[in-house]
Amino acid sequence: MQIGIPRERLPGETRVAATPETVKKYASAGHAVVVERGAGTTAHFPDDAYESAGATLGDQAQALGAELVLKVRAPDDTERAQMKAGTLLIGMLDPFNAEGLSAMATAGLTAFSLEAAPRITRAQSMDVLSSQANLAGYKAVMLAANQYGRLFPMMMTAAGTLKAARVVVLGAGVAGLQAIATAKRLGAVVEASDVRPAAKEQIESLGAKFIDVPYETDEEREIAEGVGGYARPMPAAWMARQSALVAERCKQADIVISTALIPGRPAPELISAETVQGMKPGSVIVDLAVERGGNCPLSEKDQVVEKHGVAIIGLSNLPALVAHDASALYARNVLDFMKLIVNAEGQPHINTDDEIVAACLVCRDGNVLRSN
Ligand code: NAI
Repeated sequence: MQIGIPRERLPGETRVAATPETVKKYASAGHAVVVERGAGTTAHFPDDAYESAGATLGDQAQALGAELVLKVRAPDDTERAQMKAGTLLIGMLDPFNAEGLSAMATAGLTAFSLEAAPRITRAQSMDVLSSQANLAGYKAVMLAANQYGRLFPMMMTAAGTLKAARVVVLGAGVAGLQAIATAKRLGAVVEASDVRPAAKEQIESLGAKFIDVPYETDEEREIAEGVGGYARPMPAAWMARQSALVAERCKQADIVISTALIPGRPAPELISAETVQGMKPGSVIVDLAVERGGNCPLSEKDQVVEKHGVAIIGLSNLPALVAHDASALYARNVLDFMKLIVNAEGQPHINTDDEIVAACLVCRDGNVLRSN
């Protein structure tokens, strides 16, 4: 089969969907791989490394004209126009974006959106949300440390003692847990909040304190359990109690890393404008939920702003800031998924009895196969 790797066109998207390592595996399995010239440059994978791995270099039209196209982000109008009906497409295609899915269906693409994979053990090696969120959690702490005008660890020096930074992490999923671990490693004192009861033990196992908002009704507890590992919107009464506690903890904090998300919905508002006003001057908020509206209403997408003396970092694509490693992990996710839709002869074989394939298949034969 012909496999195409185009260069990503979305502004700020520095990642690439295949690396020389994965290209070598595609080539040795007998596939003909065309990599667009410069596709890996922003992730520091040079063209000659792809050639040595067995790829042919080509232009955008050749990469998008392949039978199977591997991308990071959903194709834009210009990219779709260069893809033939029936092209197989694998990427992070934003499965909750009904308009985007409809455009891909109209173009006749057979599209697989890897964010839609179920959170089951067999899907872990292709879990793009985890591979990328993990890096985002790490990078969020790096950005905060860089912005913060003080240090993270307690430091005893001949000139006096510096206090350790206090870090609050809101949302302890994949990104939040990595942020906790990274901030702890830098010597900060860390506390964290999540709705899901399972998060308590995970937060504590990393040496952070759990910000406990006890459930007062069975309904609250049941909703907090979530579905498929994901959170659901909590009742207003719980959110109000959480908000009061979060406001109090943020006022004591130096750094707040917020990562709280509910799939397919706007991000919950956890840090109100009033809370920001109450925070110490020089504090830093990193709002990883900014793509979905943000956990803080003062965040501005892709901007670093200062509000009430607090720096708010609203960069929406943190994995793109660690493009080499993010691409390496993403490319392995894509390779593992691709094995599910190709048979032993190297030909496409889409088995919708496989729950991972069925969940990721978002468009086929002109139809959108997902109801949001
Ligand atoms: P996510 O990115 O959808 O959300 C981030 C976090 O925000 C979640 O932990 C969520 O509970 C939390 N959150 C939502 N509303 C909140 C609120 N009001 N206050 C505080 N926190 C709030 O989640 P992510 O990172 O994708 O992880 C979701 C779950 O899936 C986790 O339990 C994770 O451990 C699990 N998982 C399971 C895998 C598997 O293969 N079994 C693989 C990867 C993750």
